[in-house]
Amino acid sequence: MITLHEEIVVPRSVEQCFRYVADFRNAKEWDATATHAQKITDGPVRLGSQFDLTCAVGPGSLRLVYEIEEYQPWHSVVLRGRGRYFDVKDTIVFSERNGGTHIDYTAEFEYRPGLEKIAHRFEAPMRSMGADSLAGLKAALEDNNPNPGTSSDSLRADNWVLPGVAMFSRWGYTRGAKRWKPVSRLMDGVHVVLTGASSGLGLATSIALAEAGAKLTLVIRNPDGIVPLKNHIAAETGRTDITVELADLALMSDVNALTQRLIERDEPIDVLINNAGALFNERLLTDEGLERSFALLLLSPWQLTRGLKPLLANHSTPSRIINVISGGMYTQRLSLKHLIMDEQSYDGPQAYARAKRGLTVLTELWADAWRDDNIVVNAMHPGWADTPGVKSALPTFRRVTQKILRNEQEGADTIIWLARATEADKVTGKLFLDREIRSPYLLKKTIERASEREGLEAFLSETLESVSN
Ligand SMILES: NC(=O)c1ccc[n+]([C@@H]2O[C@H](COP(=O)([O-])OP(=O)(O)OC[C@H]3O[C@@H](n4cnc5c(N)ncnc54)[C@H](OP(=O)(O)O)[C@@H]3O)[C@@H](O)[C@H]2O)c1
Repeated sequence: MITLHEEIVVPRSVEQCFRYVADFRNAKEWDATATHAQKITDGPVRLGSQFDLTCAVGPGSLRLVYEIEEYQPWHSVVLRGRGRYFDVKDTIVFSERNGGTHIDYTAEFEYRPGLEKIAHRFEAPMRSMGADSLAGLKAALEDNNPNPGTSSDSLRADNWVLPGVAMFSRWGYTRGAKRWKPVSRLMDGVHVVLTGASSGLGLATSIALAEAGAKLTLVIRNPDGIVPLKNHIAAETGRTDITVELADLALMSDVNALTQRLIERDEPIDVLINNAGALFNERLLTDEGLERSFALLLLSPWQLTRGLKPLLANHSTPSRIINVISGGMYTQRLSLKHLIMDEQSYDGPQAYARAKRGLTVLTELWADAWRDDNIVVNAMHPGWADTPGVKSALPTFRRVTQKILRNEQEGADTIIWLARATEADKVTGKLFLDREIRSPYLLKKTIERASEREGLEAFLSETLESVSN
């Protein structure tokens, strides 16, 4: 048997350390060898939870299935990992030390018969790997990451349109993930309002933020969806305290009623995620007479966000607005005259992309205007993710690209990161893909004129007035 033992002290509470470490999915953020980690049992992290870890070993890789064998919040956790060549028992004990937490980590490796002798030859590198891992855990819990930026690779890719677009695929996610810093901040008590929570990226984000402890107000439009949504989140996370609000966000009357209810509740909002959306191949008017792509994707988030601003403004730490846009907007230039497409010119993907371009511009305008209100406003695009929305609106695209599409969690990753990561409130008015700031333009011809940009909010205001009259 080889036994590794390390101790660290970190300036975090015992509960926070326990929750981060016991969720062994996080091992990929701090373990020196783990390249992939996922939970393979349903439900919240608890006794019996299992995790599938892939570790890099020399030029190859090794798979280990870990199970939580002892679970004593916030005191200790014991995990047993089973692999082809060895079993390992990780015993991790947490205790309060000078206002922070002392973590005592022991890993006992037991090799398969016949391998013991060979294994001892690797004892020195294993000890060094153990020390590196605990240094990684310390850094993760210190949560002192640099401010968001752009890697030189991404800058290069954006200069060449095709490589830039290739990053929308699963490959872009995998490539980006290699550079990411740990996200150990918990969100207990952080109030998040998220639209479009019933499926796809919104649902994946809701689950991840519920796991992180956020206080969720989820907006959906179908009353029959409330119970299934609550049950689903409870089964995945153990959280039964989720608030669900109903609104058809393509209708301004519903947007206003939702805003009114939230204002009356008078609960400060720390994070607003404008995620609801759909690509409509067929042009239809809403009951209020508005072209529905424009209504749902641009006018609605504009109206909702302005209405909720009093609940977002002037907190002690910056509130965050996250606008979910689309890479499709790279094809379009903001033009107020062409923002609402008429019957003759209507094209679903174009109407969608123009509205998303509008929301990208709004992100920048709000970021500037609301700096003194301590609100940061950023946009993200998820790349191409396999969601019910893509399945119904873009079946041919989905068929052709299926192998390279991201899954819902991968598509939602940057939304979750913008909501959760400590460093994500250090910049405002930016567009993100895979946790990096990206240019909002891939083509020069899509840069809008200043007059279009400056006139956008007045245009939305006039259009809204036409609905009210
Ligand atoms: N998946 C991608 O590759 C991709 C790429 C770029 C951008 N996006 C953007 O990501 C966001 C999420 O899309 P998704 O792919 O996750 O699609 P999705 O699975 O269809 O989810 C869209 C969500 O928006 C809701 N929604 C649609 N119309 C609504 C309305 N009138 N009122 C209230 N809620 C409404 C849907 O509710 P229902 O369940 O009631 O329909 C659903 O919860 C969208 O803004 C989309 O434009 C996605």
